[in-house]
Amino acid sequence: MEGPILETQTAGVPATAASGGRRVIVCAGTGCVANGSKKVLAALEVQMAAAGLDVVLEFRPEGHGDGVRVSHSGCQGFCQMGPLVTILPENILYTKVTADDVPDIVEKTLVQGQPVERLLYIEPRTREKCLGPDQIPFYQRQTRSVLKECGFIDPDDIREYVAHGGYAAAGKAFSEMDGQGVCDVISQSGLRGRGGGGFPTGRKWEAARVQTSPKKYVICNGDEGDPGAFMDRSLMEGNPHCVIEGMMIAARGIGADEGYIYVRAEYPLAVKRMRKAVADAEAAGYLGDNLFGSGQSFRLEVMEGAGAFVCGEETALIASIEGLRGMPAPKPPFPAQQGLWRKPTIINNVETLAQIPRIISEGAASYRSLGTETSPGTKTFALTGHVSNTGLIEVPFGATLREVVLNIGGGVTDDRGFIDEKGFKAVQIGGPSGGCLTPDLLDLPLDFDSLRSVGAMVGSGGLVVMNQKTCMVSVARFFMEFTQRESCGKCVLCREGTKQLLALLDDVIEGRGTAETLSLLETLGHAVQVGSLCGLGKTAPNPVLSTLKHFRKDYEEHVFDKRCSAGRCKALAMPTINAARCKGCRLCVKACPAGAISGEKKQPHVIDEAVCIKCGACATACKFGAVEGI
Ligand SMILES: Cc1cc2nc3c(=O)[nH]c(=O)nc-3n(C[C@H](O)[C@H](O)[C@H](O)COP(=O)(O)O)c2cc1C
Ligand code: SF4
Ligand code: SF4
Ligand code: FES
Repeated sequence: MEGPILETQTAGVPATAASGGRRVIVCAGTGCVANGSKKVLAALEVQMAAAGLDVVLEFRPEGHGDGVRVSHSGCQGFCQMGPLVTILPENILYTKVTADDVPDIVEKTLVQGQPVERLLYIEPRTREKCLGPDQIPFYQRQTRSVLKECGFIDPDDIREYVAHGGYAAAGKAFSEMDGQGVCDVISQSGLRGRGGGGFPTGRKWEAARVQTSPKKYVICNGDEGDPGAFMDRSLMEGNPHCVIEGMMIAARGIGADEGYIYVRAEYPLAVKRMRKAVADAEAAGYLGDNLFGSGQSFRLEVMEGAGAFVCGEETALIASIEGLRGMPAPKPPFPAQQGLWRKPTIINNVETLAQIPRIISEGAASYRSLGTETSPGTKTFALTGHVSNTGLIEVPFGATLREVVLNIGGGVTDDRGFIDEKGFKAVQIGGPSGGCLTPDLLDLPLDFDSLRSVGAMVGSGGLVVMNQKTCMVSVARFFMEFTQRESCGKCVLCREGTKQLLALLDDVIEGRGTAETLSLLETLGHAVQVGSLCGLGKTAPNPVLSTLKHFRKDYEEHVFDKRCSAGRCKALAMPTINAARCKGCRLCVKACPAGAISGEKKQPHVIDEAVCIKCGACATACKFGAVEGI
């Protein structure tokens, strides 16, 4: 299996763990770069050189001394705590590092071997300092499989990927297996697509494999248009060769010789890294002709997306690659039968493809050891919202919502970021196509079938945690506005129906809602589901229908009491002063332009609803968070 290419590439390149020298890893993912990690890296270079430490930016062959190496890495998932700096082999993790912290890191840690205490992560519940990922619940409770190398290998250095066993699975597929053998292993693994639908990957590949056409294509779907989702971006930025290797194996499985990686244009770093990885893989002989002596060729091109959410839908994506307007087409024919340029094509999501090398290397049974019977393996989620630890996480399918929100996420927070043990209101899962989960579902296993049974879906893996101060009508409106804007306009019910649903939600939010508005929302929501061609229209009403079902009280309060107790809907907001929190400091009295607030000094104050003009000045002025509902 190991042809000359692998030997050439691995020669002299240290694997991270095997490397004797100390390494300083600066996270170069988009989140940390936005928070200033490049300045940290530059300061480290200067100060380590000044301290006389042996610094190299590139990975070097073993045996060239064991000085300190500085490396860029991909996202490590804990973006909220970035910029992150990891020191190996001690595995110390420094959080929220700035360039001003660098002298201490160099002097105390790299020279004296001591941690810089103030840069360590503090567990919000116990207030204990954690030295590294091994002690941080956010990492401890995860099972990082597809993300394992993200953040720990240099995504721009193919030699590192190879040194970690990369391209060995492709070598095995091309030199020891035929197309049917590859498809069989993927079918046996039970792998299901991570792009939203959960379709069995092996079955899709087999459908393309049996087509007799001499020309076939493999497409990687890196469009990731869901608001808040960044799993695929992190994989493409953090481990691009793994995605390429997955595509090579797919090409072996179906007999394709050409492929496209379709990346969202708004992901410039992912585009750059994927392009470099493709060029490096070609230069190293992993892409091109006669791969591993098999006689089969495979070449890849990276394409930037057309900027529309609907272009992530597979038939629209194909149209977009062909240079046409990205609009979905009816199925059948399925892309596996007639796809790009009417040739058999398989389209898989980035995360689906990144799972493939491990399945081929370790076997289907090993893959099935994680996850559930019908949803094997792991899933990445973008955990955001009112939760202590936000970021990119990976758990086996079947992990419960409780595990994800309370343990990995560290608990629900109030609007000021403090843990609020009773604050959990809902989790929105699956982005604009998804639904809401309520506190009574905390022990629900997160897998394709369990989620479907409660009217939600894994979707792309967005998980937004919401506290009691969240207005669920506004949440539904946020997603409806998104899908309405993104509808391609082909189907009347999607194009016009989403517009009307949005207008009905506005009626509720702005105080014009009636009982009829609620029943219209339901009737029209179901009609849009049934009458739309593609998944965008079919799922667009999900956030509305699911919040109407699980949070009807929020809607009824808006419609019948003309109130938004979460204080999010301006037209219905009415501030009140929480007597338990009010110190009677009179700051709000001074701030109120309408003279609506009264009360004795050092006694709880009250707001006269008839006089209040709902400007919100009192809430801004109050230092004790006593003004609520606005
Ligand atoms: C409106 C819409 C947007 C989609 N966007 C994406 C996307 O960004 N990435 C993705 O992998 N799949 C997306 N899909 C699903 C794809 O159509 C397709 O099912 C998926 O790429 C198949 O890959 P998988 O089998 O690996 O999941 C979208 C579907 C719809 C209806
Ligand atoms: S359902 Fe909507 S997005 Fe999909 S094809 Fe029809 S109009 Fe376009
Ligand atoms: S919202 Fe404005 S008008 Fe109403 S009580 Fe507060 S400060 Fe006064
Ligand atoms: S970008 Fe640094 S942890 Fe995500």
